[in-house]
Formats: sequence, structure tokens, C-alpha cells
Amino acid sequence: MMIKSLPPDTTLYPVPVVLVTSAFDGVENVLAINRIASVNAEPPMLAISIRPGRASHALIERSGEFVVSLPWPEMEVVTDYVGTTTLKRVDKWQASGLRKQTGNLVKAPLLLDCPVNIECKVFNILRLPSHSLFVAEVLAIHADDTVIGKRGEVDWDLIRGGLAYRAAVVRERPVADIRPHELLERLIALRSRNITGD
Ligand SMILES: Cc1cc2nc3c(=O)[nH]c(=O)nc-3n(C[C@H](O)[C@H](O)[C@H](O)COP(=O)(O)O)c2cc1C
Repeated sequence: MMIKSLPPDTTLYPVPVVLVTSAFDGVENVLAINRIASVNAEPPMLAISIRPGRASHALIERSGEFVVSLPWPEMEVVTDYVGTTTLKRVDKWQASGLRKQTGNLVKAPLLLDCPVNIECKVFNILRLPSHSLFVAEVLAIHADDTVIGKRGEVDWDLIRGGLAYRAAVVRERPVADIRPHELLERLIALRSRNITGD
């Protein structure tokens, strides 16, 4: 066996891909992220990492809140769509067809098409060289009863693994093997069926 040195990277997988919603001053947004981790137990905390140029970054920074939504595996195309388009140019809600509902404890919307929605309040922001790490407390979890396991917790097997990168190198790229300009076309075709795969 030969050990080879590779360039530094954040190789770490499998990596979940989730949707994150935000809201400030009447503007609501959604993007896809893969840079997410569980970082504290009591109280439960998550951390998400977002580049300052994203429209979502400003909304989360100003509101101090966000919602993490776990998609069904069939939501690959819609996830890539909201992860390759920006609020600065596109009405992602209209194009994606994602259905939302006001959050209970935060202003960011819950996504009705996702089986799990996690309401979060920002605890601290760490400015990293390329991203801001938003460390946040989990305030509430809303789960479709079909994905709650015997112990009363969300069971990832019941979400059928959710959405995740299948390759080792993780760099904020679409999950589906589709060119970005073809995503909208594919999304429209899927919307005429059912994007959640229910
Ligand atoms: C699968 C996937 C994962 C992504 N992960 C991240 C991430 O962890 N952090 C980040 O800042 N952007 C990530 N992105 C890119 C943003 O979702 C993308 O730039 C989006 O268009 C930003 O939207 P906004 O400007 O409306 O906030 C990811 C994109 C995809 C498709």
C-alpha cells in the first residue's frame, strides 16, 4: 500500500445536504447548505457555515434566526435549484413551488414539503476566512409523524437517509448530476408530478 498526500480539503462524508430558511423585514429566503454540524448537547446546538455574499447570510445575521429543513431524498432537484439561485435575482418560492408556513418561535418559515423542520436561534457568529459560522440553539423540532422512530426521535432511516453527498469532496455544489441551467427545466417537469415523492 502507498500513502499519497492530497491537497488540504474538507473531505468528510457522508455529508447531509439541508435547506435553510431565513426571514427579515418581510423578506423570506431559502438556500441549500452542506456545511452543518451538531456542536452542543445541553442545550442542543447546531452550527451552519455560510459565505457572507449569500443573500441568506444577511437575513440570518440581521434576524438572528433560521430554520433547518431536512429534505426527502427525492427533493434533490429542488434543493439544487435553491442552492444555485439567489434571492438577489430570482423569486425562489415561486419557481421552486416549495410550500411554507410561519415558524412557531422564529420568523423564518417552516417548509411543508420537508419531513423535519428545526427552529434555531443564533447564539454566536464566528467569522472564518471564507464563511461565517452561525452557532445556534435548537428551539423546536417539527417532524412528520411518519419519520418519528420508536424512541420518539427523528429517525433518519425513516427519512430514507435524507439528502447527502455521495462523494468525498464537498464544495457546495449541486447533488444531482444535472447542469445548473437545466435544473429549472427539470424542476418544472417534476412539479407537474410531485417533488416530494410522496
Ligand atoms: C448542495 C449544495 C450545498 C451548498 N452548501 C453551502 C454551504 O454549506 N454554505 C454556503 O454558504 N453555500 C452553500 N451552497 C451554495 C448556496 O446554496 C447558493 O450560493 C445559493 O444560491 C445562495 O442563495 P441566496 O443568495 O439566496 O442565499 C450550497 C449549494 C448546494 C447546491
